[in-house]
Amino acid sequence: MGRAFVHVILGGGVAAGYAALEFARRGGYSRGELCIISEETVAPYERPALSKGYLLPEGAARLPGFHTCVGANDELLTAKWYKENGIELVLGTKVITADVRMKTLLTATGETISYKNLIIATGARALKLEEFGISGSDASNICYLRNLDDADKLVNVMKSCPGGNAVVIGGGYIGMECAAALVTNRIKVTMVFPESHCMARLFTPKIAEYYENYYTSKGVTFVKGTVLTSFEKDSTGKVTSVILKDGKHLPADMVVVGIGIRASTGLFEGQLLMEQGGIKVNGQMLTSDGSVYAVGDVAAFPIKLFDGVIRRLEHVDSARRTARHAVAAILEPSKTKDIDYLPFFYSRVFTLSWQFYGNNTGEVVHFGDFTNSSPRFGAYWVDKSWIRGAFLEGGSREEYEAISNVVRRKAKVINIAELEKQGLMFAIQE
Ligand code: FDA
Ligand code: NAD
Repeated sequence: MGRAFVHVILGGGVAAGYAALEFARRGGYSRGELCIISEETVAPYERPALSKGYLLPEGAARLPGFHTCVGANDELLTAKWYKENGIELVLGTKVITADVRMKTLLTATGETISYKNLIIATGARALKLEEFGISGSDASNICYLRNLDDADKLVNVMKSCPGGNAVVIGGGYIGMECAAALVTNRIKVTMVFPESHCMARLFTPKIAEYYENYYTSKGVTFVKGTVLTSFEKDSTGKVTSVILKDGKHLPADMVVVGIGIRASTGLFEGQLLMEQGGIKVNGQMLTSDGSVYAVGDVAAFPIKLFDGVIRRLEHVDSARRTARHAVAAILEPSKTKDIDYLPFFYSRVFTLSWQFYGNNTGEVVHFGDFTNSSPRFGAYWVDKSWIRGAFLEGGSREEYEAISNVVRRKAKVINIAELEKQGLMFAIQE
């Protein structure tokens, strides 16, 4: 049993949705030319909604409201849209092997799908506690968060313990956004993570201190610099407490785990070049095979702005842009220049909202008011006299644009003390 397509998008997440829209805009497709194969049973959606709008106690976001590409204020691509645009959605279908040389994919249902061009958009999977030697994370009240099924489980578990205790494992994006959502749902939260401050991959200690104090004022307790070792469970197998390394027990009606991800490269190991835990591509998003492209969380691509250093980014803006770029490179190779991407991350929790652009390397220069409950503060990262990265909490659209511009333009810093004094004005005046 088999089918042949000109273009196959493997994976049905954020990148797949944006690639589909780009294909549609650059030319119509008739049945049999273009398909998306996804293990998920719904059309591509904006994954960031799962830790934000989806978890709201009232007026929660639900599909079809957040299919791609509404996150970029663009068209809402429902299943009907794909049909109307000649793009076949092969949903609920896991690809179990790929043969790059033969240009074929084998699905779990036994179908062979062949392609002329393949876009790998398999994203990533959440790391499990078992991978850190801790067992029992399949309990009915332990939640991970990567896809819609996980989000539904999280909502149901949350609803089953109103006013109860949640332990959040991990102080990264999932930990911070879920802790805020749990508090909004009137659940008491204790966060446990091994680092000395939250969001250690990005935040400076000073920036982290602001958010930790804010969370504390909302009732969140932080247990830092340690990890859990096991769970205590009742006779039904439900977790009742989380046991830490020092033997302390934290009572838990539910647990949320966000301890990082692993890019889903497995199908292509040994067939394509890998780097940074992902599939290595060039500025056209082309892998080491001339017919295979990779985009989104799974792709490690050159950042032109930073002298071509290869980065694998785990953020939605990168997924959207790399997806569009791969389609442009496939359809109009001679007109498509190498991608020139400025890394962009953001988050929204409670009434707070921040954006970050660039690289967080070099000397840090903080600015703004870190004491206000409606804050406006930030930081620049300065390396070899030019701005490499910029962070801003509570900015306006123009202010975010200004900080992105100073990073994009590699604004020169002559005097660090002056930069500190000017703060946000440095970016606005540039
Ligand atoms: P994504 O993970 O979206 O899609 C991968 C797809 O491939 C899935 O449909 C999967 O089922 C499918 N797949 C994998 N292997 C397969 C196989 N063998 N066969 C068939 N299908 C297969 N970023 C940000 O910048 N701001 C934010 O606020 C957030 N918020 C956020 C919240 C939550 C809860 C998560 C989990 C993530 C975020 N992110 C984020 C990160 C952002 O969502 C992420 O970078 C993008 O979803 C990456 O898009 P991809 O398409 O690469 O992977
Ligand atoms: P992360 O990498 O942001 O954070 C992982 C955290 O796990 C670390 O901060 C650390 O505190 C913790 N950790 C690691 N090992 C641990 C252990 N043994 N015990 C306890 N804690 C441990 O990953 P995440 O928070 O799981 O997020 C998953 C993915 O989702 C990331 O790719 C992230 O970019 C994406 N995401 C992004 C956003 C956003 O951009 N706003 C929001 C949600 C999710």
